[in-house]
Amino acid sequence: MADVAALGRVTRRRFLGWWMAGLLTATAVTVLAPVLVFLWPAPAKGQKKGPLSVTLDTPIDQLQDGDAVKFNAPTSPDSAFIMADGGGDNAAGDLAFGGFVVKDGGKVDVLAINCSHLGCSVAFNKAAQSFDCPCHGSRFHLDGTVLHGPAPVPLSHLTWKQGDNPSTIQVDGIVLGF
Ligand code: FES
Repeated sequence: MADVAALGRVTRRRFLGWWMAGLLTATAVTVLAPVLVFLWPAPAKGQKKGPLSVTLDTPIDQLQDGDAVKFNAPTSPDSAFIMADGGGDNAAGDLAFGGFVVKDGGKVDVLAINCSHLGCSVAFNKAAQSFDCPCHGSRFHLDGTVLHGPAPVPLSHLTWKQGDNPSTIQVDGIVLGF
C-alpha cells in the first residue's frame, strides 16, 4: 500500500509539473506572439512591386527646355515610387509619393519630390529654374544637384520609361495595397 501511495504522490507531482509547464508555455506565447508580429509583420495583402503608369499634365514632347512637370503616385490603389538612388535623408529603395519630369539642356530626367535634407516636398520654381524646399530653404538645380543648402546631396532619381504616348510614363514603384 505504501508503494501505491508513493506512486500516487509522484503522479500528482507530475501532473502539477505538466500543468505548470503548460501554464508557463501559454503565458510565454501570449506575451511573445504580439512582439514577434510587431518585429516581423506579414506583408500587406496585394503589395506588389512594378512599373506604375502616370499621366502627365504636360506631355514630354511639349515640355520646354528648363521646364518641369509634377506628378503624383496613383492613389487607387495607394502606391508609391521607389527611389533609384539617394543620399542625406533619401536612399535607394526609399518611397516617394511624387516626382518631376524635367527637361534640362535637352535631356529629360525624372526626380523624386523628396528634399534630401529632411524629406519635405520640393516645389518647381519656374522663374528661377530650380527646385525649392519650403522647409529650410534648400534649393536644387534642374539636374537635382544642390544649389543652396542645408541639403547635403542631390535629389533622388526615379527609374522610368516613356509609356504608349508622350503623356504617359512608367515609373518603378510599389502598390501598397491599403
Ligand atoms: S527638408 Fe528641405 S531644406 Fe530641410
